[in-house]
Amino acid sequence: MISRFKEVFNGEPTIRAMAPGRVNLIGGHTDYNEGFVMPIAIQHNVSILAQPRRDNEIYLHSTNFEQSDSFSLAENIAFVEEKPWSNFIRGVTKGFQKAGWPLRGANLFIDSDVPISAGLASSAAVEMATCIAYQALFDLDVSTMDMIEISLEAENRFVGKNCGPMDQFISALGQPGKALFLDCRNFDYELVSFPSDHYSVVIMNTKVRSNQVVKEYNARRAACREGVTLLKEYLPNIRALRDAGSEQFEKHRHHLPEIIQKRCAHIIYENERVQMFAKALKDENTTLIGQLISASHISLKENYEVSCPELNTMVDIAMGVDGVIGARMTGAGFGGCAIAVVSKGVEEQLKSTVMKQFTETIGHEPEVYFSEASDGARYEILD
Ligand code: GLA
Repeated sequence: MISRFKEVFNGEPTIRAMAPGRVNLIGGHTDYNEGFVMPIAIQHNVSILAQPRRDNEIYLHSTNFEQSDSFSLAENIAFVEEKPWSNFIRGVTKGFQKAGWPLRGANLFIDSDVPISAGLASSAAVEMATCIAYQALFDLDVSTMDMIEISLEAENRFVGKNCGPMDQFISALGQPGKALFLDCRNFDYELVSFPSDHYSVVIMNTKVRSNQVVKEYNARRAACREGVTLLKEYLPNIRALRDAGSEQFEKHRHHLPEIIQKRCAHIIYENERVQMFAKALKDENTTLIGQLISASHISLKENYEVSCPELNTMVDIAMGVDGVIGARMTGAGFGGCAIAVVSKGVEEQLKSTVMKQFTETIGHEPEVYFSEASDGARYEILD
């Protein structure tokens, strides 16, 4: 990468910033309902080699897209239709400016091994790596919370993707051997032990992705909002589905249209599952961990209806392998990846079973990656 940097920019990088993708162990679609999630940072990262410049220009090169781009800090930073990858960096840059952080010109060389469009939060990783690159390059006293906010704003407002806060938080805060138990209302969090000598995560990429995913995601968000509005009549104190407990919900659910009932049921029970999961991890209750992960998948499939045949096949295959603790779809759904939490040592057996059986059933090869819970965003100074 360093020799490519020299070729492209005719200079020397001074720092390397890195930020990981993620998988969510449990807590599907709860983040935008002010609920709970439990992701880990994975061993796949976006790396940015960076060098300061004397002028006010930001020069970018992406190895994944084999494209370059540039823009000036002195002008209004605009969204570019033809280079979508650049917008995450443009949005973060604009966010730093808006928050008053003094930026100068830089050469940024971006390389990612987070699979793109696979539901592993590659865009949050790009945003967070950009934040860390600026922080390190210009010696800025910007806090982790500020960088999370800037990244989230870049994603939601600049790029226009309506996601919740989970991905940016875990990309910033991930730690080896820890899962992040995050409260998406007040952003309280706890790093809960998920020891890598005990558990491994096998990530199984279906290599399919529906082009309806954005539309469906927004439809789920709207259904949850409608659920809150309708439930308020019976539970006046709720502000988000996070505020409704399953017992209260069961008393009043019959007032809601069936589809809204199903969406709300998923979120309300899933929030309870995440909290039970955090406790089960602390108690090292592997049986309960597995049951909760499986219940999450069933609810995403049947109540929230965001799974697909390829994800269900993947989960079914994984659950048939000895040593698999639990398996579920992860991310927004409609394709992308499923995960299996497995006992250490089972990874290769699961991979070969999945490669064979998924290919036979679905007709194309999946991809399988292994990951332990890993580091969040970080940088190193290069000599
Ligand atoms: C996408 C979003 C996240 C989250 C998940 C579903 O990955 O980016 O914020 O909502 O879907 O859990």
